[in-house]
Amino acid sequence: MQILKTYRETRSAQYPEPVSLVIVKGLDGIFNAMSAAWFMITSIEPPMLAVSIGFQRHTYELMSQQSEFTLVLPSEKMSAEVEFFGSNSGRDLDKLEALGTPTQPAVEIDGVLLSEASVNYECRITGSLKTGDHMIFAGEIVASHENETPVPRIYTLGPKQFGGAKS
Ligand SMILES: Cc1cc2nc3c(=O)[nH]c(=O)nc-3n(C[C@H](O)[C@H](O)[C@H](O)COP(=O)(O)O)c2cc1C
Repeated sequence: MQILKTYRETRSAQYPEPVSLVIVKGLDGIFNAMSAAWFMITSIEPPMLAVSIGFQRHTYELMSQQSEFTLVLPSEKMSAEVEFFGSNSGRDLDKLEALGTPTQPAVEIDGVLLSEASVNYECRITGSLKTGDHMIFAGEIVASHENETPVPRIYTLGPKQFGGAKS
């Protein structure tokens, strides 16, 4: 039996929810990282993915100016990054510098990778689609990276709760 609810009331039943980090370069040269749960792989050949970015985000402005971004699957040890990058804006501070999150250069794009993440995808934007109050950006994955020591990715387990899928 299904009970009629508002969409917002059903949000908590969607956990655990995978979470990613989107990193894009600003015109000032600073790389900004934002937490994004609303992403998905969309194609295997060519490899592609999509991520939904709210119009109010600094990341939306940057994605509209740039043609490349990194989509990171953070490890289960990166809950501080997921929470901080998802509750502060790059308009106010350099988030990567504030946390001292280790980075390394991307190889195919003008971007950075997060060294301690499970996976990093370098992406070139191929298109966008307005969906309500968010814009979906589609990107072709032009380089894929995995941690040399395989490490489980992190999930959102509830409001402001993060951890591995089995925790
Ligand atoms: C776990 C988590 C997941 C989030 N997922 C998304 C998302 O998919 N899309 C989005 O636009 N914002 C999402 N947010 C909110 C942004 O990360 C947040 O507004 C951030 O401060 C925006 O940073 P910016 O202004 O530097 O772009 C999420 C936040 C958290 C904590």
